[in-house]
Amino acid sequence: MKSLIIANWKMNPRTYREARVLFEGTRRAADKAPGVSLVVLPPSIFIRELAKDRRGKVAFGMQSVSADSDGPHTGDISLLQAKDARATYALIGHAERRAAGETSVDTQAKVKAALLSKFTPVLCVGEKERTPNGEYLAVVREQLRIGLAEAPATSLKKVVIAYEPVWAIGAKVPMSPRDMHEMSIYIRKTIFEMHGEAAHSVKIIYGGSIDETTAVPMLTEGDVDGLLPGRVSLEIERFKKMLVNIADA
Ligand code: PGA
Repeated sequence: MKSLIIANWKMNPRTYREARVLFEGTRRAADKAPGVSLVVLPPSIFIRELAKDRRGKVAFGMQSVSADSDGPHTGDISLLQAKDARATYALIGHAERRAAGETSVDTQAKVKAALLSKFTPVLCVGEKERTPNGEYLAVVREQLRIGLAEAPATSLKKVVIAYEPVWAIGAKVPMSPRDMHEMSIYIRKTIFEMHGEAAHSVKIIYGGSIDETTAVPMLTEGDVDGLLPGRVSLEIERFKKMLVNIADA
């Protein structure tokens, strides 16, 4: 199966011109990496213009979306508007959005709305810190149970879970693949308790300080279907190297 790589540009780069250059490099890198299915999450204001270029096979996604379809929601963007700009993925509950006030109940409504609008929801979960008594497992479980409560079992093949421990985002090194392997099993088990066999169709990806050297070990030993890189997706040479390494692995 192809590795799903979701490049989260966050609030970068500063201008559309720079975004265009970055996207051109990204698209070319993706063309040379047949084993990779690439999704780019630019700042939403750039998506429509970038997506006009139909060459290549890069998909687009939103870094955040509203669960509402219209109305008095200043600053928000609806799924319908995002679809109109050619986005097909929706990142939901990223740690930086949760820190800004997004709750698990909000993520539940967004996952439901995304599925209804035929988007691929990418639900981010992850604990803030790891304490020795294993409380982090309860945190992840709660985020999954609430976030997926309105997602019918039959829709799970469309759902991506991005495990992103907050302590590994913007850090020096990612979590170890071995620890991710354990977490993947735990995530699947939690979803299995909710939805039974359909849990096996959910894609699980990892995010947090992934780069061109750590991507392959994480994909081969971490029991994940893909990755959610942040900073490295802004440095085109390193990003290219990462995709080539994945394609060669
Ligand atoms: P990072 O970001 O790769 O820069 O740690 C990952 C993320 O927040 O999605």
